Amino acid sequence: MRKELTIRLKEFQERYGVEESVRGRIVRPAVEFIGEDILDMAVSALLQGENVLLCGGKATGKNILADNLAWLFQRPVYTVSFHVNTDSSTLIGTDTFVDGEVRLRSGPVAQAARYGGFCVLDEINMAKNDAVAVMHSVLDYRRLIDVPGYECIPLHPATRFIATMNYGYAGTRELNEALVSRFSVIRMPTLGEGQLHQLLRADVPGASEENISGCIGLFMDLNEKAVNGEISTHSVDLRGMISALRLMTDGMAPKDAVAVSITNKCFDEYEFQLVQDVVMTRFV
Ligand SMILES: Nc1ncnc2c1ncn2[C@@H]1O[C@H](COP(=O)(O)OP(=O)(O)OP(=O)(O)O)[C@@H](O)[C@H]1O
Ligand SMILES: [Mg+2]
Repeated sequence: MRKELTIRLKEFQERYGVEESVRGRIVRPAVEFIGEDILDMAVSALLQGENVLLCGGKATGKNILADNLAWLFQRPVYTVSFHVNTDSSTLIGTDTFVDGEVRLRSGPVAQAARYGGFCVLDEINMAKNDAVAVMHSVLDYRRLIDVPGYECIPLHPATRFIATMNYGYAGTRELNEALVSRFSVIRMPTLGEGQLHQLLRADVPGASEENISGCIGLFMDLNEKAVNGEISTHSVDLRGMISALRLMTDGMAPKDAVAVSITNKCFDEYEFQLVQDVVMTRFV
C-alpha cells in the first residue's frame, strides 16, 4: 500500500474508537487480498467517505476484499446477504415487545450506523428495488436512516458501506441507477499468472510446485476458452481451483480432485466434454 495511505489509515483508526461490546466483530480476514492497485483505490475512496461497490464475476475476491478493508480500518463488520425477499426490516430492524414496550431490534444497517461499522451489502443486485429504496438516504450525503415509523438514525462518522455485485449468475439483475450513483464502483480484475501463483501458495501452503502450475495453467486455459465464447464461465472458478489444489495436496489423485472441484460443475454434457479435454492436457 502507498505510504501516504498507511498514514491516513492510522489517523482514521486513532480518530474513531470502537465500543468494547462490538470489538469481537473486528476480524482478521482468512487470507490477504492480492491486488495492490485495487486495494489502494478502495482505501482512498473509503477514506474520502465514499461507499464502494465491488463488481465482478464469481470468485474474483469481492468478499475477501471487503473483509480486508474492514480489517485495515479496524472496524466491526456487519453483513447483509441480499435475496429476493430482503426488505427494509431485514436491513434496519423490526419492532419487538420488551417489558410491554415497543423496541427496535436493530438490523445490520442500523447496527453499523450506531457503532461505526463497515456494512457489507452482499450481492446487492439480488434485491428488489423497494428494499434498496430505504438505502438511498443512508448512502448519500444525508448519512441518515430515515424510514417512516422509525426514529431517524444518523450514521456514525466511521460507518461505510461496501456492496458486492455479481454478474453472470442466474437471478442477478441490473442495479438501479439511483443506487449505483451513490457508490464509487470498482471492477474486480482477473488475476494474472504471478498473482494466481501468490494466491494459491498462500491459500494452500503445502501444495507442490507441480500441482500449483497445473492448476494455474488449467485456470488460464479455461478462462481463455470462456473469453472466446467456446464455453460458459461455469468452470472458470478460482474457488474450485483452490479446492482442487487442496484436495490433491491432501492426497487425492489430481484428475479426481479437478473432477469434483471443476469438471463436474458443468451440467451441460457438451461443455463437460470440452472442459474434460482441457483438463486431460494438464492432469493425467
Ligand atoms: N484477489 C484475491 N486475493 C486473495 N484471494 C482471492 C482473490 N481473488 C479470489 N480469491 C480467493 O478466491 C476465493 C473466492 O473469493 P471471494 O469469496 O471473495 O469471491 P467473490 O468475488 O465474493 O465470489 P462470489 O461472487 O462467488 O461471491 C477465496 O478463497 C479467495 O481467497
Ligand atoms: Mg461473494
